[in-house]
Amino acid sequence: MAKASVKESKKPPYVGIVGMGYVGLPLAREFIIRGAKVIGFDINEKNVKRLNAGQSPLKHIPSSDIADMVKSGRFVTTTNMTLMSKPDALIICVPTPLTENREPDMTYIVITCETIAKYLRKGQLVSLESTTYPGTTREVMKPILEKSGLKAGKDFYMAFSPEREDPGNKNFRTATIPKVVGGYDKKSLAVALDIYKYAIDKTVPVSSCDVAEAAKILENTYRCVNIAMVNELKQLFDRMGIDVWEVINAAGTKPFGFQKFYPGPGLGGHCIPIDPFYLTWRARQFGMQTKFIELAGEINTAMPHYVVQRTLEAMNDRKKSLKGSKVLVLGLAYKKDIDDVRESPSLELIELLRDKGAAVDFNDPYISETHKQRKYDLKMKSKPLSVAMLKKYDAVVIATDHSCYDYKWIVKNSKLVVDSRNATANVKAGRNKIVKA
Ligand SMILES: NC(=O)c1ccc[n+]([C@@H]2O[C@H](COP(=O)([O-])OP(=O)(O)OC[C@H]3O[C@@H](n4cnc5c(N)ncnc54)[C@H](O)[C@@H]3O)[C@@H](O)[C@H]2O)c1
Repeated sequence: MAKASVKESKKPPYVGIVGMGYVGLPLAREFIIRGAKVIGFDINEKNVKRLNAGQSPLKHIPSSDIADMVKSGRFVTTTNMTLMSKPDALIICVPTPLTENREPDMTYIVITCETIAKYLRKGQLVSLESTTYPGTTREVMKPILEKSGLKAGKDFYMAFSPEREDPGNKNFRTATIPKVVGGYDKKSLAVALDIYKYAIDKTVPVSSCDVAEAAKILENTYRCVNIAMVNELKQLFDRMGIDVWEVINAAGTKPFGFQKFYPGPGLGGHCIPIDPFYLTWRARQFGMQTKFIELAGEINTAMPHYVVQRTLEAMNDRKKSLKGSKVLVLGLAYKKDIDDVRESPSLELIELLRDKGAAVDFNDPYISETHKQRKYDLKMKSKPLSVAMLKKYDAVVIATDHSCYDYKWIVKNSKLVVDSRNATANVKAGRNKIVKA
């Protein structure tokens, strides 16, 4: 665990974090590093036990960090929600998925707020970090919390502060990512800033919870739309015989007015494919459509089909059909060097390849087996890589460009590599052995 640069003069806050997952756990770590006391609340008993035993449930957070946190004597995780009245602040980091109809699923936020309302006491701050549409804090969270009989802004304080966690990013950690904070009113903002400043280097106050909510959705919509644009250009430039990655890197040398986004096999993760649709849903209530978001969604969700089509064509060039062939998908995580498969395009890729009659396996050094998801239940185990196994497959499809893969070795020992990430950019291979997709 990193060393503290504690703000010595300040009395350490006692912070409750509800939802000890990808967002809640790193935030807890920052508060602990700086000397605060943290109580984590979660409904997942297995993970609560693991955390209290000093083990990390997440691959990118070392167990040694969790062990240090527990050893500090200032960190405990519990399923006992009656303790929610104890801390100075309750920070909500629960999931915000989409329903089957691609509408906001507010169940986790609603249940959490209902639980908090039972134990809320005067003077507490409740800050929502889960990504959601503008208006949630005022229209969803406030009325539920006020069922406690306490009044927001008077008896307790309310804030929205979006999480910008980027799991696996080695350049930033929770404490060094500036944190936008919006308060329900002036006093709520002041209380929230005070708590967050304890753990976060730079806070960015904004005038309301709605602005903070909208800022988060803008950030993720910006990524979603730009990735869709390069995904479309990938397909166009491929037809023109132009390498889109070379084009992007060339354009990226412009020192202003351009930011690089890279294409891939589709969009994944708990945020970018989902969050913009929270805004789409909200926009309808204001009689508007979010055309950019809809179009980006259409292009991004079609990308696994494109990769399968390219695989099919490459096999065809070898006088082979996809039906009856063996295909290995490399990488199940939605992005490199992490173990998160939520909304991963690899899952869709595997299903599509299977639909075409291919026998599909996967390898991912971070994921030993698949688990049941909202949409997929693949029941697969990661196959260990070896020369003999690579040679068995008619095609190897690179879906996630994990840094630990030896791409030269993979290409050398595979019959055909379909690369959706430009992971083999520096690998020299015989004609048509690598197909970009
Ligand atoms: N994962 C990311 O990189 C990331 C980045 C930015 C924002 N976000 C947003 O942060 C929020 C949380 O995402 P996450 O990735 O940390 O989710 P997660 O699934 O990793 O963690 C959520 C945790 O909340 C717990 N939980 C669910 N209901 C609960 C309840 N009623 N009481 C207590 N605990 C409960 C779950 O057991 C789980 O441990 C989402 O809104 C997400 O969009 C995530």
